[in-house]
Amino acid sequence: MTTRIIGTGSALPEEVITNDDMAKIVDTSDEWISSRTGIRQRKLVGRDENVVTLGTEAARKALEDSGTAPEEIDLVLTATSSSEVYFPNVACQIQGNLHLTNAVAMDVSAACSGFLFVLHIAHAYIQSGVYRKILLVGAETLSRLIDWEDRTTCVLFGDGAGACVVEAQETGIIDAVLHSDGGMGHVLTGSAAALVTPKSEALAAHPLHMDGQAVFKFAVKKVPECIQELLERNQVEADDVKWYLLHQANKRIIQSVAKRMHQPEEKFPVNLEYYGNTSAASIPILLDEMYHSGQIKRGDRCILSGFGAGLTWGAALLDW
Ligand code: UT7
Repeated sequence: MTTRIIGTGSALPEEVITNDDMAKIVDTSDEWISSRTGIRQRKLVGRDENVVTLGTEAARKALEDSGTAPEEIDLVLTATSSSEVYFPNVACQIQGNLHLTNAVAMDVSAACSGFLFVLHIAHAYIQSGVYRKILLVGAETLSRLIDWEDRTTCVLFGDGAGACVVEAQETGIIDAVLHSDGGMGHVLTGSAAALVTPKSEALAAHPLHMDGQAVFKFAVKKVPECIQELLERNQVEADDVKWYLLHQANKRIIQSVAKRMHQPEEKFPVNLEYYGNTSAASIPILLDEMYHSGQIKRGDRCILSGFGAGLTWGAALLDW
């Protein structure tokens, strides 16, 4: 038995902040942001929205899409690094909202790699036979964690949530790999103190800090390496993978990975121009869009790969 994604959903806030809007907040320009990152706009949560409201909406859609009744879910795993409360955890709140009465619920903190981490954990539970149907949610509101006076980071991130229902089936995940390097943790840090702080006071709360170039170099080296590791140990050729679905942080990172893998960029779909970097939500949002637009089809061989704070990174090889 392996793990198959049987339904997806996503939720994005209404409010759109364009690059021109950002230029009114910090000393930046549409030209700088779009040429360095590919981002053109991002969506930000309003006062009444948070990781739980977004995550619940995405999860509800994934349940409906997969035809799963609430009581069938055995486990809820939420990947998030931007909840404004420590407990109850986000997964328990989503469980309560959706009446997933038979589920165990827990959060996983692995920043932008979070979705790969919950997918890997779900796969291990399914392979061991402990659980059969699992709800995976990536939900983030990094707009509440960023320093709105730091132009080097505030232009990069957006809010959103994506979700998948996975179940034990004969085909699906072929193999998956995760890595962590705590020795490099200092290059990307975020403080929870900033989460409940109004944007105008966020500086005082020691919010998100990033050495962008160090993260860039790490991503363009480690993502191809871990994809190659997966391909080699499963004797799969890079050419035989139809889609490379990467964490949506920066278009130049995605292009660089495609080049290093000697693969055409068309195999690396990008939607970060609309949403910015939504951290743990970016891969499930992309999956939802690709699946419901008919681009990914059943049986397509895919690589998913994420990277982020920790440092953490990982990849999964699967047949959709
Ligand atoms: O999800 C994982 C988390 N993060 C990432 O994946 C981010 C990885 N890193 C990156 O994407 C890129 O490093 C950035 C997009 C963050 C930065 O791009 P870069 O090409 O590495 O720019 P840089 O840091 O080398 O900065 C170049 C210049 C600097 O000015 P000087 O020193 O050359 O005069 C910056 O001060 O650009 C300046 N700059 C800006 N200018 C206008 C930095 N941010 C901005 C801005 N607008 N928003």
